[in-house]
Parts: sequence; structure tokens; C-alpha cells
Amino acid sequence: MKDFIPSLLRTAVSFAFVAATAATAMPAHADAATPALPQMGFNNWNSTHCRDEFDEAMIRGIADKFISLGLRDAGYQYVNIDDCWANWQRDKDGHLQANPKRFPSGIKALAAYIHQHGLKFGLYSSAGVSTCEPLKENRGFPGGLDHEKDDAATFASWDVDYLKYDNCNNQKIDAHKRYTAMAEALRGSGRQIFFSMCEWGENKPWLWAGKPPVDAGSWRTTGDISDNYASMLKIFKENVVLDHYASLGHWNDPDMLEVGNGGMTDVEYRSHFSLWSIMAAPLLIGTDLRTIKPDALQILLNKDVIAVNQDPLGVQGHQVRDAGGIHVIVKPLKDGSRAVAVFNETDTAHGVTVAASELGLKAGQSYNVRDLWAHTQTKGDGSIKTELAPHATVMYRIGQ
Ligand code: GLA
Repeated sequence: MKDFIPSLLRTAVSFAFVAATAATAMPAHADAATPALPQMGFNNWNSTHCRDEFDEAMIRGIADKFISLGLRDAGYQYVNIDDCWANWQRDKDGHLQANPKRFPSGIKALAAYIHQHGLKFGLYSSAGVSTCEPLKENRGFPGGLDHEKDDAATFASWDVDYLKYDNCNNQKIDAHKRYTAMAEALRGSGRQIFFSMCEWGENKPWLWAGKPPVDAGSWRTTGDISDNYASMLKIFKENVVLDHYASLGHWNDPDMLEVGNGGMTDVEYRSHFSLWSIMAAPLLIGTDLRTIKPDALQILLNKDVIAVNQDPLGVQGHQVRDAGGIHVIVKPLKDGSRAVAVFNETDTAHGVTVAASELGLKAGQSYNVRDLWAHTQTKGDGSIKTELAPHATVMYRIGQ
């Protein structure tokens, strides 16, 4: 595999012994079918918004790419479509219907295509009278408020596996009430549908969304991400402090990935992917996989990093240091080892040292240290000494 880590990022683990080869890879990832782990997949929003290119041909093409690019094998499972899939009006019986121009074959046929690829299918709606986009001709697409049972039944009849439920046009009705109504409707629909709440952290969903009666699989903790470093950084900082509210099957969601969309450098995209992974965030690819560049794809296919995100212990990484623009995040893993991310948010290079004790490791012991971006293995005492380029992140897995 091409080693694309710039030299400044290369790390010397103190007590560095002879580097072993990368031949013995860590287990790739936990069983991606386990619904309790952070959801992995694709959503079209960050790459297309509501532009005309968002249609069934595109989404079918994405499903094909999941197979040919090795994304399904790496654990990516959901192919989700976002706002603007629906027709302007409900049908004469009040049911949602697909936009006939974008999805002439209908949503059920699209779901079938995706299922034939061994993947799952996700849809979007809003807990309001209409969805967020667009306000063209002064009308939005119909939302789910007061239509929860009917819409959940429609989703189930279309074989939908996942619902992203947004917050626009909510008439200022209590969020707990609105999200409970859809959660209960989904549970009563006769189909298992993953519930991904998207109320942007406005009502502190981390306090209530993971518990009954809502019991959501994930909840957005922030506003929308944009494809630039400042946006990614801001969202990371808002989400990283919420770690103790996440648990198996109930995840903080700092929004979808921008990796590959062109607004950040590869160093920044590696940081984005590293930080989302160690925060046990949903990994929803937001770039057009039909035209993705090899470097971006390599980031999304980093199985060592994905294994951290999908670790079956199900703990969001905890930030043990936030000082001088250096962030150290530690995530305990099922096999007793720890994943560590060290991130330099600043615009200058920094030498960083982290003691084993800061990572919660016993001093005076010998550890196996795997560099999750260089894919090399060394022995060390559990401490880290690294040179970090501006905006760069290094990631390790340290265990005995
Ligand atoms: C909101 C959500 C986004 C996206 C758009 C669609 O802004 O937060 O993720 O779904 O709506 O209109």
C-alpha cells in the first residue's frame, strides 16, 4: 500500500524498538451487521444537496461502487438518500410519494436494488410540516409531523431500513414529543428501522434521545458540517466533550463526512476521519463515490481506523488533553488495548509527548504499538512522542 504519510507526521514512539512489519494487520472491523455499532454508509447530501444530479441513477451507481471499491467489505452498509427525494405533494390518500423525475422507478425499487447488493437503504424526512429544502415556489416537501404512523407504514412498505429525521418547520412543538411520535411509529411499523435523529443538538438530545421512549440509534449534536477545516474543527470540539452520553446503540452524531469533497487537504481529511472514528461517530460518506480520487478513498478504507470506530466495546473516545491546540483522545477497546488520537489543530507544526499514564496505561510495561495511518507496528512503553504537521492527527492502537 502506498505510504502517503508526509514525513512530518512520522512518529517515533519513545522506547522505539525495531519496527515490525505491517504484515500482521489488526482485525478489520467488528461485524458491521451489528446494529449497535456506529452506522457506516453513504448519504448524498454533502456532495449533491438538491441538485438535479441527485436521482436514482446516481444512487444505484453509488451502490455499485460500494461493491467495486471494497466499501461494503470494509463495513460500509447503508446507502441513504437525503432531502429532495419526495414529490411536492402527498398523494390523494395522504401518502408520501417519490419525486417522479428523480426516482421514476419509485423508492421500493431503489431499496430492492440496494438490498440486492447486500446493503441497507435509508430515507429522510423532517419532524415538521415540511422538510428543510428547498423553498422554491414557496413550498417545501411534506414533513412527518402529524403523519408519523402513516409515513412509518409507507417507509416499512418500501423496505426502508433507516430514517434520518430532521428538524425543519417544526412549528415550535416540543422536540421530545415530535421525536417520540416518530420513534413509536417506526417501532409499530412492523419493520426494524434505524432511527437517526437530526435536531442539530438544539434540545440537548444526548440527555434524552438514547433512552425510551425515543431510543434513537444516533442523534445529531451540532449544526451542519461544511467542507472546510474551520467547520470540521468547530463540530469536533462540540462533539468530543459529549463522550459520556454515548453508548452501544446510542451515538452522538457530529454530522456526515466531507472526506473527498475537495475543501480540505488530505492531512485535514485524515484528521476528520480519525476524529470521527475515535469519537465513535456514524461514518457516513458524503462524497460522490463514482468520481472519488484514490487518496480520499484510501482514507475511507483505512481498516485500522475503522476498527477503532467499530470496536465492540462501544465507548466514545474521551479527550484527556486539550491544551495549546493539541488534543489527545483515548478510546478503550474490547481487547484491552487503547486507541489514541493526537490532533494538532494549530497552523504550526508541534512536537508532542504523551506519557503512558495520561493514556491510562501502566508505566514501566512493554506494549505493542500500531500506527494506524502508517500501518507499522513497534514495541514501546506506552508513551508517545510525535511531530505533528499543522492540522494533522496521528493514531495508535496500544496494547499488550
Ligand atoms: C438539514 C440537515 C442536513 C440536511 C438538510 C437537508 O440542514 O441538518 O443534514 O439533511 O437539512 O435539507
